[in-house]
Amino acid sequence: MTEPSEVLARTGGRSVKRIVYSAAQIAERVQGMGREITDHYQDGDDVLMIGLLKGSFIFVGDLVRQITRPVQVDFLVAGSYGSGTTSSGEVRLLYDPEAKLTGRHVVVVEDIVDSGTTLNRLVPLLRQRQPKSLELCALLHKHLAPSIALEPRWVGFDAPDEFLIGYGLDHSENFRNLPFIASL
Ligand code: IMP
Ligand code: MG
Repeated sequence: MTEPSEVLARTGGRSVKRIVYSAAQIAERVQGMGREITDHYQDGDDVLMIGLLKGSFIFVGDLVRQITRPVQVDFLVAGSYGSGTTSSGEVRLLYDPEAKLTGRHVVVVEDIVDSGTTLNRLVPLLRQRQPKSLELCALLHKHLAPSIALEPRWVGFDAPDEFLIGYGLDHSENFRNLPFIASL
């Protein structure tokens, strides 16, 4: 789906600057990440995958199907962006996962690590719940944050410092339905 007319049909006529990661590139990398996560956990305990909504919803769906061991899935909502393209620095917890984290292998699944603000607020809250292990899996990493509370163990792509949309990533709630990742 990279025909200009098909892109424009999905964006309502707004053109994207360039496709940064194609659907095929994403699929191949997500498959690899699924394999890496599967291989990492060897003690037989289940793994709880916690997706950060909304941006990770497509990534989580694709990723968990590439993990060939028992996992459970939950979500968490921490809003940090308003409707603009720069981080507001404010993080709100709007939905707290129902699953108990204590004593469990937990993987936080993030669409993109940008300023790291969200993670720096979130990780201490999750650590308080004393998971057996806590890891971060990010589809995209901009490497802009001087320090983050938890470095991602798994990164899909080292992303350019551009505002990215598609494959779950939005701008003012639009473009999440693009099957590729583009810069706006
Ligand atoms: P951070 O707190 O600055 O690391 O960013 C947290 C959230 O902001 C990410 O999980 C995304 O949902 C959103 N975000 C950051 N950069 C981008 C971008 O380039 N495109 C779309 N959303 C972004
Ligand atoms: Mg977002």
